[in-house]
Amino acid sequence: MNIIRAEQIRFQYDGEEHPESAVVLDGIDLTVPKGQFVALLGHNGCGKSTLAKHFNALLLPLGGRVYIKDIPTDDEDKRYDVRSTVGMVLQNPDNQLVSTIVEEDVAFGPENLGVAPDEIRKRVDDALRAVGMYEYRDHAAHKLSGGQKQRVAIAGVLAMQPECIVLDEPTAMLDPRGRREVMETICRLNREQGITIVLITHYMEEAVLADRVVVMDDGKIVLDGTPRTVFSQVDTLRQNELDVPQPTELCHLLRRAGVAVPEDVLTVDECVDVLSALLL
Ligand SMILES: Nc1ncnc2c1ncn2[C@@H]1O[C@H](COP(=O)(O)OP(=O)(O)OP(=O)(O)O)[C@@H](O)[C@H]1O
Ligand SMILES: [Mg+2]
Repeated sequence: MNIIRAEQIRFQYDGEEHPESAVVLDGIDLTVPKGQFVALLGHNGCGKSTLAKHFNALLLPLGGRVYIKDIPTDDEDKRYDVRSTVGMVLQNPDNQLVSTIVEEDVAFGPENLGVAPDEIRKRVDDALRAVGMYEYRDHAAHKLSGGQKQRVAIAGVLAMQPECIVLDEPTAMLDPRGRREVMETICRLNREQGITIVLITHYMEEAVLADRVVVMDDGKIVLDGTPRTVFSQVDTLRQNELDVPQPTELCHLLRRAGVAVPEDVLTVDECVDVLSALLL
């Protein structure tokens, strides 16, 4: 089953009144099957956040259509179904926390959905456990570290039991430890609970963890494949102002210098294997 199906979507922020305004999404086709972990990459301003907002009907396309589990996002009567299927996590955790106490914050979403109190208690506890923040349930939210706040924000989305979570640069404001905590949480939710993940990121080492990498440029999709196939296209990525993972970069430079190493090295461990084989 597909969670997200975008068909030829076109979008301009001021398109209704000013058809000549900038085209931000220019004919995007993208299908995300249930359970997949997709990383969405592209340089600043290429349209990633705009696309993400189409996945829970925060924005509607001017042309084409977006379906969430076969429900078109322009069906106003079904907006609740769309928003409860796809949850959003944004860059700044401070903008997403609404209550002073951690567990109250996580309860806010289900309370608004009218979920029964017993069920809320269970969902809040489950969500906090899933992100490793259960011990902090009665702590003050504003005193947590960035990574902890972002995990509480993820728990708040989880408590609404979405099938898919779209995260728009969730680690951009975090230190390395916070980034690691959040990435481990995302990977675990995908692996253990089968939650479909769309992760927008500028960090290549995060994209390597996904099942699939989609690269956008100027409102279009320019690359789409496994991390290994996408990151082996070093020159295309460079043209799109993107980096490649460091091990891939090192092997690329070695190849250019005439050293026979593979093009599709992704991880540090693989790189070590390749280099030590050369030194034997
Ligand atoms: N609310 C808005 N009104 C008008 N134009 C907008 C609005 N939001 C974004 N844009 C423009 O749409 C284009 C795409 O922006 P978007 O935020 O989707 O890019 P992005 O890929 O998420 O960039 P970044 O990596 O910086 O987050 C940019 O040219 C941006 O200036
Ligand atoms: Mg953005």
